[in-house]
Formats: sequence, C-alpha cells, structure tokens
Amino acid sequence: MHEFSELVLTWFDGYGRKDLPWQENKNPYRIWVSEIMLQQTQVATVIPYYLRFMESFPNLKALSSAPLESVLHHWSGLGYYARARNLHKTSVLIEQVHNGVFPLDFDNLLALPGIGRSTAGAILALSDSQRFAILDGNVKRVLARFHAVEGWPGKKKIENLLWVLAEEHLPRENIASYTQAMMDLGATVCTRTKPKCSVCPIQQSCIAHDRSAEEIYPTRKQSKAKPHRILPVIMLICKGKIVMEERPQRGIWGGLFSLPELEDESLLEAWCEERIGYLPKNINKGKSLQHAFSHYSIEIKPIEVRLNVSFSTVKLRSTETWYALNEPAEIGLAAPIKKLLNNFH
Ligand code: ADE
Ligand code: SF4
Repeated sequence: MHEFSELVLTWFDGYGRKDLPWQENKNPYRIWVSEIMLQQTQVATVIPYYLRFMESFPNLKALSSAPLESVLHHWSGLGYYARARNLHKTSVLIEQVHNGVFPLDFDNLLALPGIGRSTAGAILALSDSQRFAILDGNVKRVLARFHAVEGWPGKKKIENLLWVLAEEHLPRENIASYTQAMMDLGATVCTRTKPKCSVCPIQQSCIAHDRSAEEIYPTRKQSKAKPHRILPVIMLICKGKIVMEERPQRGIWGGLFSLPELEDESLLEAWCEERIGYLPKNINKGKSLQHAFSHYSIEIKPIEVRLNVSFSTVKLRSTETWYALNEPAEIGLAAPIKKLLNNFH
C-alpha cells in the first residue's frame, strides 16, 4: 500500500486547487489573511473580499496603520466581525512586539488573537513549509471517515485523537502541497453529504467507505435523550362501543378524541370503582404502542376493560362519550389512538 500522504499528494498534482488568489505571491501575511477569512466562510464567497482587502491592505504595515473602521468596512458582509477586529489587533501587535516581522514559529503565532492551533499550523505549513498539521472541519471529516473514528469531535478526547492521526499522516516533504491537498480533498471529494469516493485517492484503505458508512462520520453530537412517559389508557368496551374522551383545546392532541388516561397503572382499581362501581373481572393488558413527539416520547399502554351492562351503569364525564367501534362517528382521533382502535374489531 502507498502511504496516505503519497496518495493525497499525487491526487493534488492532478486535481488540487492551485489558482486561488492566496496561492499567488505567497507570503505569511497573505496566507494569514486568507486563513482567517476562510475560517467560517466558503472559498467562493471569500475570493472577492480577499482581492479587495489585498488591494487596500497589501502588507502588514498597510493593515496595522489603517483605522479599524476601514478594516471592518472591508469585512462588511463576511460576518463574524471579531475576525476583522482580531486581524487588525494582531497586525498592530506584530508591529509592536515583533518589530513588524511576521512571526514564523508556532508558539508566537498561537499567542496572537484569532489564531488557534489549526490556523497556526496552516500558516506555517502553507507559507513556510514547516511540518505542522491542520485540523479544520474538512480535515476532521476526512480523517474521521478514513479511520472510522467513533465519537463527536467536539469532545476534547476525540479532537485530540484526530490531531494525533493528522500528525501521523504528515509527509516528510511537500508539506505545503499536502496541507492544501487535505483541505481540497475535504472540500471537493470527501464532502459532508454524498462524498465522491469513486474518485478519492485514499478510498482503498478508507474504513468508512469499506463499510458503506461514510455519512455517519464524523459522529454527530449525541442529542439529549428525550423524556419517555408511560401513558396507561383505558379501553372501556361495552356492547360494541368504547368510551372516548375529548381532549382540552390546548396541549397535545388539542380538541381531538383520545382514550381516558390514568396517571399511573396502579390507579386502575380506583378508576373502575368510581366509574363503574366495582372492579370488573374481564380486564386485559393490551400491546403497548410507542409514539414520539418532538420533545418526548410516550408508551401508550392500553388496558382493556370489557363490560356487559347497561350504558347508564357507567358514569361518564361531560368530556366523554360512547363511540361505536364498527360504525365510527366523524370525530377527530389522535393518530396513535386511531391505530389502537384499528387493531380492534
Ligand atoms: N480553507 C481554509 N484554508 C483554505 C485554503 N488554503 N484553501 C481552500 N480552502 C481553505
Ligand atoms: Fe471520504 Fe469516501 Fe475518500 Fe473515505 S473514500 S475519505 S469517505 S471520499
């Protein structure tokens, strides 16, 4: 097997992007500005902004001596204005602390406003061929899929693992091309949805691809478990009719017909005593039905109570009514209740 980085570099020769504006007249200043603009914005959107920015602020001196308002004006429409403020602040800091010379070592870069580990790595790799890894969203996705990394990358432990993998894959040479290649691979081939694995240079050893499970990586944040409620409902059936209850207008199933509910199954006996006057013999627990709402789910537990008495024996509330199972009246039924009744004939 070829090394990961060899495959990626060979792919870059044929298919990588080599004519982006920040790839011309490469210097740390130009790379830095591009990386900051690209942090939260797509390449196509960034290009015109980048060109105008470089017209007005072609070098560090031009940027640091410009008023902040002018820098913000050039940012107008790009969003995340803290990026522009930090850019300006950093240019002034470099003038003052580093005598106007762009620092090209990792620790000094990381200490500057707006520059994190990945951006520092990108600046050093792209502008000075220093052997540092990057780990932006695109690269995270490629690595998470290639290695089938389980776990949400927002978790420190998972992010650290991805950094280790990113560093292990670094080639000895051509670090600048490799860095750009990884960004390009993530942006154009290993896309968030429908990755183009058939043209991917690392397809042969990609675990997610091997399992046809590309899109489950990177693992998404675990959504909070929805609360789950048990809802015992009474199916009181007498001579082909069943007791239904109209729900209040507000709340779930507002105004629809449902079955009488119990706070808890243990209250069944009390319910029967109150409504019927005694505990009937013919009681069966039916099969539960799961139902999911957006914020919680319920397990509907039908309790079937069969009677053979005159209807007047049963004390109905004003919201309750006898409903013929065979010739259903035109009333609105809550969907899962309709399902329950359909199983009944
Ligand atoms: N995203 C971040 N850096 C980039 C670069 N140099 N080229 C394309 N997309 C990028
Ligand atoms: Fe991404 Fe597919 Fe390539 Fe794997 S084979 S890295 S999933 S594009």
